[in-house]
Amino acid sequence: MMKLFLDTADVDEIRTAARWGVLDGVTTNPTLFAKVGGSDDDVLTEICRITPGLVSVEVVAEDVDGMLREGRRLAALAPNVVVKVPMSESGLETIARLAEEGIRTNCTLICSANQGLLAAKAGASLLSPFVGLLDDINEQGVEVVRDLAALVGTNVPRTEVLAASIRHPRHVTEVALAGAHIATVPLTILRLMAHHPLTDSGIAQFRRDWSAAHAGQGHDTDRDEVTTRRSHHVGD
Ligand code: E4P
Repeated sequence: MMKLFLDTADVDEIRTAARWGVLDGVTTNPTLFAKVGGSDDDVLTEICRITPGLVSVEVVAEDVDGMLREGRRLAALAPNVVVKVPMSESGLETIARLAEEGIRTNCTLICSANQGLLAAKAGASLLSPFVGLLDDINEQGVEVVRDLAALVGTNVPRTEVLAASIRHPRHVTEVALAGAHIATVPLTILRLMAHHPLTDSGIAQFRRDWSAAHAGQGHDTDRDEVTTRRSHHVGD
């Protein structure tokens, strides 16, 4: 089944998704770190501690030496760090060099199947096609995911397709059906996935019916409370 990552640098959001039992990993980016403030290293160490899987952290340098320095430092912070490297010529070189050193990378900002093909050949562990970003300019983000899943499935089994820039719950279903190994989503979308208006109104209706049926028994909707009261009554 497709894995679900949370796209955030907010530790409270990560704790929430972990409590729901649906969290497989986390992706961050410099914009997400800017939103939470604080020292990136402290926040990152805490994120890595509470996440039950991989945590992608992006380099901000532009040249190969700078990206290598940052990547090595980030990878040393925690065993589950994956170094996120933007797709570019220098990015490919960085991915290849880090792969030689045994450091996992996530090639980010992939906007075509060919870019993903190159990143996979360079040795990236994760390929991040940006679905919503492509849809924004009238392209088909899900189709890039589908092409990449077909390409890596047979040729580079060590590489996984991580659908990123997910903008709505329907995207999640679509990328899963297109063969993505992972989708990374903000908590807002995870919440939308958990709800349906008919489910929510059904729960409310059941609660109303239960309360009406037990009106006057000195309780609201708690079944255990009713059972406890009844057993006390029987023992009296
Ligand atoms: C993924 O790793 C990125 O952090 C993220 O999905 C970016 O998406 P956005 O550009 O739609 O915010």
